Amino acid sequence: MNRILIFTALIFFFSGKVLAQHASRGQKLFGECAACHSEQKGVQSIGPDLHGVIGRKAGSLEDFRYSPAMKRSGLTWTPEAIEAYIADPQKVVPQNRMPYAGMADARDRADLVAYLKEAFK
Ligand code: HEC
Repeated sequence: MNRILIFTALIFFFSGKVLAQHASRGQKLFGECAACHSEQKGVQSIGPDLHGVIGRKAGSLEDFRYSPAMKRSGLTWTPEAIEAYIADPQKVVPQNRMPYAGMADARDRADLVAYLKEAFK
């Protein structure tokens, strides 16, 4: 019984570490987005702020001028939707105006979204 408890505790400990590692890799990767996106609510620049972006409806900030394509995309920014969008923005939302070619590596995308989840609440 004790062994099982210790084993379970170890698994939680290490999976926590792994998650933290993902997010810190993601933080570095966010460097590619930071030129255009702030994590602070209400701070709009070339791109809309990404505060609370997980679960947000695409094109829904009042104080950012989105492309018509983004506004009518009907997407909600789930982790999966964000990963697909940053892999190939023009494929997921044709004619949207984000000037970003795409992040090719699936692991990079997953780590970046782990960071968004943790730091952009
Ligand atoms: C050169 C500037 C630029 C870069 C770099 C960039 N974006 Fe964007 N992003 C934009 C613009 C502009 C829009 C609005 C697009 C539209 O309205 O069609 C946008 C929109 C978005 C949206 C939709 C937000 C909403 O409110 O619907 C998400 C999510 C997003 N970007 C994530 C990212 C991520 C993650 C990265 C980095 C991998 C990134 N962007 C890199 C400019 C940029």
